[in-house]
Amino acid sequence: MKIIAYGIRDDEMPYLKQWSKDKGIEVKAVAELLDESTVDQAKGYDGAVVYQQKPYTSKVLDKLASFGIKSLSLRNVGVDNVDADAIKRNGIKVTNVPAYSPSAIAELAVTQLMRLLRRTNTFDRKIAQGDLRWAPTIAKELDQMTVGVIATGRIGRKVIDICRGFGAKIIGYDVYHNPELEKDGIYVDTLDELYAKADVITVHSPATKENEHMLNDAAFAKMKDGVFIINAARGILIDTDALIRALDSGKVAGAALDVYEDEVGIFNTDFGSFDAIPDERLKNLLKRENVLVTPHVAFYTETAVKNMVQYALNSNVNLIEKGSDDSEVKF
Ligand code: COI
Repeated sequence: MKIIAYGIRDDEMPYLKQWSKDKGIEVKAVAELLDESTVDQAKGYDGAVVYQQKPYTSKVLDKLASFGIKSLSLRNVGVDNVDADAIKRNGIKVTNVPAYSPSAIAELAVTQLMRLLRRTNTFDRKIAQGDLRWAPTIAKELDQMTVGVIATGRIGRKVIDICRGFGAKIIGYDVYHNPELEKDGIYVDTLDELYAKADVITVHSPATKENEHMLNDAAFAKMKDGVFIINAARGILIDTDALIRALDSGKVAGAALDVYEDEVGIFNTDFGSFDAIPDERLKNLLKRENVLVTPHVAFYTETAVKNMVQYALNSNVNLIEKGSDDSEVKF
């Protein structure tokens, strides 16, 4: 059995090598992402393991299938960049890693929330100027706030656990109710109710056609004045222009964004200077003291990266050997 792994970074390499040695399975590591210019390298392999945020296009998927590769394992959780029609048409089986580390995402979301509430960005900037005064940079306490969690899957639940540790009141919205959280009575019936009651809103939904720009002008208008917004899920969930308007008006007091709707090709790139970042809207956000942008790094922990590599390789072997895996994605 031979597997090709695309988009392999240096930090993934030790885990890949260890897995390959332990299992006695050949894995060819390719640094480039899977696209039309690299797909030919997959010829002769039994399965492909991939991670990327740019699209897996129908052309690429047709080509993989024409090489007889019907086992595709994503090293991440999101499948919104996969051409579902091409997957079905070609009979390709796809796995993801549904829970490489919910803590990794939840911990960053809450870290950034706390940074917003304690206004550390403003203090950092003041201190850099030699200004060690307290006022007017007064903080808020999470202990006194209601956190609204949109989507209470594994990551949302971790966020809830952590925020409860801080003493926050939790409300949640999800189409599927977690039985334990249901018992705790955290669920509200509508997003509108969550918008009306929450001091902090944190989104943990996958990206679908239905929830694109879920947080838009109309949604912001229904929220409390001075609400804090956290997005460590998918950029497309927030209408960035609407968020900027809500920040300008003060409706939104602060936002922590680990994702951005136009991030592909921008995040995880070194532009050499702030001015060279080729996205004026992103720069507008980055300049604000009450906005914390991180370049989609919530997943980027040692634990998560190790799990992503090893789970995906194990799933790929299962697809190749048995034609099925517990983490198979239904399109
Ligand atoms: C995901 O797992 O879907 C992520 O958002 C993390 C990143 C590897 C794309």
